[in-house]
Amino acid sequence: MDRVEINPAKAFAGEFIPPPDKSISHRAVILSSLAKGKSIVKNFLRAKDTESTMNAFRTLGVEIRDERDTLTIFGKGLYGLSEPAGVIDCGNSGTTIRLISGVLAGNPFFSVLTGDDSLRTRPMARVITPLSQMGAEIMARSGNKYPPVAIKGTKLKPLHYAMPVASAQVKSSLILAGLYCMESTEITEPTKSRDHTERMLPALGADVKAEGLRVIVRGGRELSPMEIEVPGDFSSAAFFIVAALLIPGAEITCRNVGINPTRTGLLEALNMMGAKVEIIDPRTISGEPVADIHCKGKALLKAVHLTEEIIPSLIDEFPVLCVAAAAAEGFTTIRGASELRVKESDRIKAMASELTKMGVNIEEYPDGIGITGTAAMKGAEVESHGDHRIAMAMAVAALAAKGSTTIYGSSAVDISFPTFFEAMKRFSS
Ligand code: S3P
Repeated sequence: MDRVEINPAKAFAGEFIPPPDKSISHRAVILSSLAKGKSIVKNFLRAKDTESTMNAFRTLGVEIRDERDTLTIFGKGLYGLSEPAGVIDCGNSGTTIRLISGVLAGNPFFSVLTGDDSLRTRPMARVITPLSQMGAEIMARSGNKYPPVAIKGTKLKPLHYAMPVASAQVKSSLILAGLYCMESTEITEPTKSRDHTERMLPALGADVKAEGLRVIVRGGRELSPMEIEVPGDFSSAAFFIVAALLIPGAEITCRNVGINPTRTGLLEALNMMGAKVEIIDPRTISGEPVADIHCKGKALLKAVHLTEEIIPSLIDEFPVLCVAAAAAEGFTTIRGASELRVKESDRIKAMASELTKMGVNIEEYPDGIGITGTAAMKGAEVESHGDHRIAMAMAVAALAAKGSTTIYGSSAVDISFPTFFEAMKRFSS
């Protein structure tokens, strides 16, 4: 099996440009494909997940030219996609399968979506239930729970829907379906999740309004093509930020990072833990807030107690936050986080088992984790659980531990950050 060995870092310093944002890259391909005409996507993330979205739209008849990190997409318009001759493979990507389900619900042809072993265990009822209420015919494996998903789209009916869980994937799937419905679709979330879809769509001429926890969509309008530059991914920068905080004397600057407030709960949590993270030169790129982030190693972070209202804004940072807690002073709890059990892996179980191997005392709860920090994490043989963010979080733990660590299943990083280990190596010595 693929593996990587990591030794403790004596120093960690430099200027880091994170890879382009994964969520925004997915949405740029989806919305450009649905617009009528030529769109340009600059600084597109080249990684396995975003390639799944690109390939899906190629299968649906969209021409996408790619030259390194710039895509030229010849969008077909809302009603220009064609019935795929084969099954659409969404790989490991929950964003791909859930957002595209919303699009296909409004298209009057038959399609089947599937994915890898992990994706085929991820809950789909959360999109199937509301999309069925809009009139689409959707079926899935195991009583409409898991992929493969078969969809026969139709003319959609309006929906007013209160989402039971905060999820940008569900919200975006319903917004995309709403583009195919003449009347108004209203979606309300319990807590605000990332809002890239509703930020991007008005720029393409869609009638989409976000008011607090509610999004209102009036469909039936063709979308105009766009030119977009994707900012750096905060969720990838997060590993470098936490690494810098845990290594004494470390100092790094992450350039051009998206700091959309629906994504930066980790900074709030780290701030509560006593970390000094500085936001420099905040600006806007293609409608998204962006800045440089500077951080310095601190002697010791302190424990924190986090509950459900902050979870959506740090949903993808949970694994690396567990590592920060493992190196902090005191007992940290992260609760109200049961969504973490249905990500690319069960991230609560994965972090509990891997940090335990490094000598950390862990309590696992159905909805979260309790972590007793230690000054003496020890190198160990750990596993990625086939999950990119577990692999990267464990690499950060390894840099801050005593003795060397081997991470098995390290190629999982290809999902969102294919050059992760090379980049980490460049900064550490
Ligand atoms: C994403 C939404 C989140 C996040 C995922 C990307 C998106 O998932 O964890 O990595 O791009 O919309 P949920 O909607 O399941 O919370």
